Amino acid sequence: MDPLLEINDLVVEYPAKGFRAQPFRALKGVSLDIRPGETVGLVGESGSGKTTLGRAVLGLAPVTDGSIRYAGREIGQLTRRARRSLADEIQVVFQDPYSSLNPSLTIEQILAEPLTARGVATRDAKSRVGGLLDRVGLPAGAASRLPREFSGGQRQRIAIARALALDPKLIVCDEPVSALDLSTQARVLDLFIEIQERTGVAYLFISHDLAVVRHISHRVAVMYRGELVETGDGDQVTARPRHPYTQRLFLAAPVPDPDEQKERRAARRALIAAQGEAA
Ligand SMILES: Nc1ncnc2c1ncn2[C@@H]1O[C@H](COP(=O)(O)OP(=O)(O)OP(=O)(O)O)[C@@H](O)[C@H]1O
Ligand SMILES: [Mg+2]
Repeated sequence: MDPLLEINDLVVEYPAKGFRAQPFRALKGVSLDIRPGETVGLVGESGSGKTTLGRAVLGLAPVTDGSIRYAGREIGQLTRRARRSLADEIQVVFQDPYSSLNPSLTIEQILAEPLTARGVATRDAKSRVGGLLDRVGLPAGAASRLPREFSGGQRQRIAIARALALDPKLIVCDEPVSALDLSTQARVLDLFIEIQERTGVAYLFISHDLAVVRHISHRVAVMYRGELVETGDGDQVTARPRHPYTQRLFLAAPVPDPDEQKERRAARRALIAAQGEAA
C-alpha cells in the first residue's frame, strides 16, 4: 500500500533568536513513512524534536531541507487552496485540551466550528454535533455546556471529536494522554484505537512514554537529538531495543516490582557509565 505520508531527509532549522546566536537544527535529516490506517508512535526525551516533526507535518515548522509528501503531493509546494483542503485531512490533538478549546464557547459551537469554517450551514453543522459526541462517548447533553464543566479526560474527548469533525485521514497526536491519570489514559487510548478501527484514520502518535506508545502503535520510531535512531514494531523497539538511547529509555520506565526496579536502575546507570551521558 502506498504511504499516506512520506517524510524524506527532513531538516528543520529554527533561526537564531534570543539566547541562541546560531540557527538551531531541531531535525537533522529525518525519514519516516506512515501508511493509511497505521499508528506510528514517536518517542524520545524532552527536546529531541518530536513536536517539531509533528508541526512540520501540519505545515507549521520551517522546512529547511528535505520533503514531506502527503498522498503523493509535496506539502511545501501546495497552493493556498490545496493546503486548506489538506488541512481538513490532517488534524491535530494536543496534550492540553484546555488551552486549545475556547473557554467561552459551548461544546456545540466548538464542534460545529470546523464545519462552518468549511462552508457547512450552521444548522447542518449543529445537527452533526450529537453524532460526534456519541463517537467519543459523551452524552448529547454535553453540547450546551462549556469546556470548564468537564474533566481532563472528557475535555480530551471533546478535542478528539473536534479533530474528527472533518473526517481526517491523519491525526497528529502530540502527547494527548500525558496530562491524564493512568486509568483515564487507558480509556482515552482505547478510544483512539476504536476510532481507528471504525474510520481507518492514521496517527502520528507522539509521547515520551514508551508504555503508552507500545500500547497504541503498529510501529515505533525513536527520536534522539533531532534524529530517528531506531524504528521497528512496538515489541522489538520496547522489549529488545537496539540503540543505546532506546535501551536507556526502556530501562527508565517504571515497573511495579521494586526488586526489578532496582535492577533496572543499576542497569541504566551501568549503560550511562559505559556510553557516557551524551551517548
Ligand atoms: N519555535 C522554536 N524556535 C526555536 N527553537 C525551537 C522552537 N520550537 C522548538 N525549538 C527547539 O527545538 C528543539 C526540539 O523541540 P521540540 O519541541 O520539538 O521537542 P520535543 O521532543 O517535542 O520535547 P518535549 O517532550 O519536551 O515536548 C528544542 O531544543 C527546542 O528548544
Ligand atoms: Mg513536544
